[in-house]
Amino acid sequence: MMTVLATACSKSPPREPARADLALRTRQAAGLVLEASCGECHIGYYPTAVPAALAVFDLSTPDWPRRMTDRQLRDLITRAASPLDTRGQPQHLSAADVDRVTRFVEHELATRSSGSR
Ligand code: HEC
Repeated sequence: MMTVLATACSKSPPREPARADLALRTRQAAGLVLEASCGECHIGYYPTAVPAALAVFDLSTPDWPRRMTDRQLRDLITRAASPLDTRGQPQHLSAADVDRVTRFVEHELATRSSGSR
């Protein structure tokens, strides 16, 4: 007597590379840091928002890095790591927070199709 077992494992899908996931996660992690530290001027619906700052990036838009040049993206790291904010006021982001911004920028730059911006 023979028993044929249907094998459940034959249907398991191939593991997708998590590229899009990683892009989203690094952006969200950096976004949280930037919202807390930079949101005052860079979140469009805050009364304290500064038009010139929003022209560079507005954290209230889901695709906020899109319009930024490569140089401006790198400048996110510089400004996040700076001991002074745009007004010359002291600011302190933890090394872990600067790292979150750095990872996002590196990932964003690496996945941009053209480096010519
Ligand atoms: C007090 C308001 C204010 C805060 C807080 C602020 N910014 Fe800005 N940011 C501006 C303004 C205004 C501009 C446009 C003028 C300029 O380039 O400085 C700007 C521009 C920028 C630019 C583009 C610079 C370029 O080279 O074109 C980056 C990148 C940036 N900000 C990052 C940050 C980061 C990161 C933080 C938080 C750590 C932050 N900003 C906090 C007001 C602010």
